[in-house]
Amino acid sequence: MLVIMTGTEMNLRALWMEDNKVRFIDQKILPHRFELLDAESVEDVATFIEDMTVRGAPSIGAAGAYGMAMAQITGMDLQEAAERLKRTRPTAFDLFYAVDRMLDEAGQGGNLVTSAEKYVDEIAEKCRMIGEHGNALISNNARILTHCNAGALATIDYGTALAPIRAAHHSQKEVFVFVDETRPRLQGAALTSWELIQEGIDHAVIPDNAAGHYMQRGEVDIVIVGADRIVANGDFANKIGTYEKAVLAKENGIPFYTAAPVSTIDFSLKSGMDIPIEERSQDEVRLVGAELICPKEASARNPAFDVTPAKFVTGIITEAGIFRPEELDEEKFK
Ligand code: MRU
Repeated sequence: MLVIMTGTEMNLRALWMEDNKVRFIDQKILPHRFELLDAESVEDVATFIEDMTVRGAPSIGAAGAYGMAMAQITGMDLQEAAERLKRTRPTAFDLFYAVDRMLDEAGQGGNLVTSAEKYVDEIAEKCRMIGEHGNALISNNARILTHCNAGALATIDYGTALAPIRAAHHSQKEVFVFVDETRPRLQGAALTSWELIQEGIDHAVIPDNAAGHYMQRGEVDIVIVGADRIVANGDFANKIGTYEKAVLAKENGIPFYTAAPVSTIDFSLKSGMDIPIEERSQDEVRLVGAELICPKEASARNPAFDVTPAKFVTGIITEAGIFRPEELDEEKFK
């Protein structure tokens, strides 16, 4: 991804391995500060997933793969490392896919640094392909609505939902992006807007509850979001608030797409209602920054994700092409 710091252009990934450390762009402090954090142990990697230094399904998967590589380097028991990494966040499927793939490769005598690098390179390439396929859905002057951050920060590089938008911009199309702020952690306002500014893509951050208004006024042509876990019937979990955007899109006759690599699809689950949904700290809702925004006695609920039923999904943009939910078939992706 393009990062411009004090006039210098850099091409960086969300995380990478260097000198037996995993280096992460610290996503907790963007957009105000750009800093890298280094993980030197499996416990550091797990902590960085839990505290959301790194977030977004494919990037969490990459962190899991590098975490397993670090376990092999440091001589940690691989089953123990896998269990620790899998305990970090429950919803995004890529984490489980990546850790299990590393366990399999270790079982065949593989070097996990090499295996993790290969896995991470593959994700970046898959996201680039998602951009190529998704670009076909974006017309010149399209107004696109997205939710949360499904950009390069969430996916190593390119993005999932943002990949088609990047590709459209690079192919000289004019695009405009409505960026849902994405309460309570504000990944849209903080991270998606930051990525779009790095690329010079025109956009506006909107309150989460304004999306319906712009759809109703005919100002949104297409909705593209990411996914944390897609299941066999095409239902999918994504950042809380996605479900209502999908219902509003259908009500207003607007095509609604989710974009994800095939490694986000969990064919073992038949229905979205089976996806474990992470509930996070009440204080993410009760506070904005350090400031309490409700009576101190008030309790809060904070589901990190919701499930959008397949009936609201026009298509799923993957590295292998664009599919209707009912076209998902495990055999097709082997
Ligand atoms: O809690 P997060 O920030 O890890 O959640 C990420 C999302 O839900 C994103 O919307 C994204 O679509 C999935 S990752 C590309």
